[in-house]
Amino acid sequence: MPDAKPSPPTTLVIFGATGDLTRRLLVPAIINLTRGAMVGDDLDILGIGIEPGGDEMLLKRLDDFLAGLGDGEPLVKDPAWARLRQRISYISGDFTGDDIYLEIAKRLSSAPGGNAAFYLAVPPRFFGGIVEKLAAHGLAAESENSFRRIAIEKPFGTDLASARALNAQILNKVGEGQIYRLDHFLGKETVQNLLTARFANMMIESLWNSRYIDHVQITAAETVDVGSRGAFYDATGALRDMVPNHLFQLLAMIAMEPPNSFDAEAIRNEKSKVLKALRVFTPEEAATHGVRGVYSGGTLNGVEIPAYHQTPQVAPGSKTETFVALKLYADTWRWAGVPFYLRTGKAMTLRDTEIVVEFQPVPFAQFRETDVTRRLPPNRLVIQVQPDEGMSLEISIKSPGLSVDTVPVSLDFRYADQFDIGKMTGYESLIYDLLIGDQTLFQRADGIEAGWAAVQPFLDLWAKGGEPEAYAPGSMGPACAEGLIERDRRQWHALDVVHAKHK
Ligand code: BG6
Repeated sequence: MPDAKPSPPTTLVIFGATGDLTRRLLVPAIINLTRGAMVGDDLDILGIGIEPGGDEMLLKRLDDFLAGLGDGEPLVKDPAWARLRQRISYISGDFTGDDIYLEIAKRLSSAPGGNAAFYLAVPPRFFGGIVEKLAAHGLAAESENSFRRIAIEKPFGTDLASARALNAQILNKVGEGQIYRLDHFLGKETVQNLLTARFANMMIESLWNSRYIDHVQITAAETVDVGSRGAFYDATGALRDMVPNHLFQLLAMIAMEPPNSFDAEAIRNEKSKVLKALRVFTPEEAATHGVRGVYSGGTLNGVEIPAYHQTPQVAPGSKTETFVALKLYADTWRWAGVPFYLRTGKAMTLRDTEIVVEFQPVPFAQFRETDVTRRLPPNRLVIQVQPDEGMSLEISIKSPGLSVDTVPVSLDFRYADQFDIGKMTGYESLIYDLLIGDQTLFQRADGIEAGWAAVQPFLDLWAKGGEPEAYAPGSMGPACAEGLIERDRRQWHALDVVHAKHK
């Protein structure tokens, strides 16, 4: 990965500049980059949106929002914001018409350097059309000395066919090297650390295969309910919202082969290879390898929440799932026979994203004549992605005393204990990499399509009928999720263990 150097002069054109993503994540991240001198006074921001108004309208909205952000001193008072806000302008217009692109062209023609990055922070139905318009107006054409890049938010497609169609539409106009498909999980520090943990540590990587690893669990539990996102969520569901993107990015980092270098292409090749190796189930197999749930009404952390079916803009009789658990296989030499159990849901016990790598049991023949009568617990490596980023290694030791008995203990590392990780949005590295042209943390067309291919059998099966099983808010999901793993004589890792330790 390149050394951190300030980004080159660029105009960042944000489509959807008055939207939630821009004010909640993009602008705060750019303020953080400005404070750290990773972007300089040669970054201009040109906001585009349908809301009428000019520069002052956008700046006022951002000021108002930033007044409520920040630890202690609000972000609106940050000197970095004072510098950045001088370089923000706004054009109001319709993304589907031509006028706005003519205006963007005019602004870019006088921009120093001529570099532009277009950030599509808009609903997905606009993605393909905006790229076509940019190309039609010559705005996507790069020259020897200037770049034109396009960052696209998720969701990228709603199934395999639509993801393929969108890739085809976009790649018909611009090169893959210009496209930055975002998955914000890749901006999280601990996710980036997965590669270092694996490839900078002999004792981890040498055990990293089916010979020593029994199975892997990936969990993204959320306490939030669907709330005001009913319209989006009801058309999406937990599987589409979290699995082919966020959870598969984690899976790919865990399961990929070592890349030949830390080059974007080398890493993306290996990630795509492992995603393409995910077994694509028959309909019969899908029926036994995936379960879904939906939360009912109840209390969560002392707050009354409505059942998913009572959420505004959720269709009556909706079959959309708010929880999903899958058992998957990556059919490669390294992972033959090792199940990857994935689960994610809303309105669960606690917010926790973690990866658990459970090792094979020891043969333990030497304990036969001792007091160690129970099965030794397996070693586990628990990678805590959020919150409380860190890692724990669960091992067995002899408990003190005259008899031979073992007790499991945990060797713990927490980022916050050793580093000042500050308050980052997770978007800093993604925006910075977009500006310097490093595609490592962005998804490539083939990887996206491989992810959708692996979940398509579940989408097809669940579209045909049946319904998700109810679970109580504040639980760990429906009973069928326990059944999925217990059938294999395994258990989900108890999430509260890690958190309880750090309270
Ligand atoms: C988004 C999903 O992509 O990721 C949301 O649409 C989900 O439903 C969110 O809540 C989770 O991200 P994070 O960073 O809060 O774990």
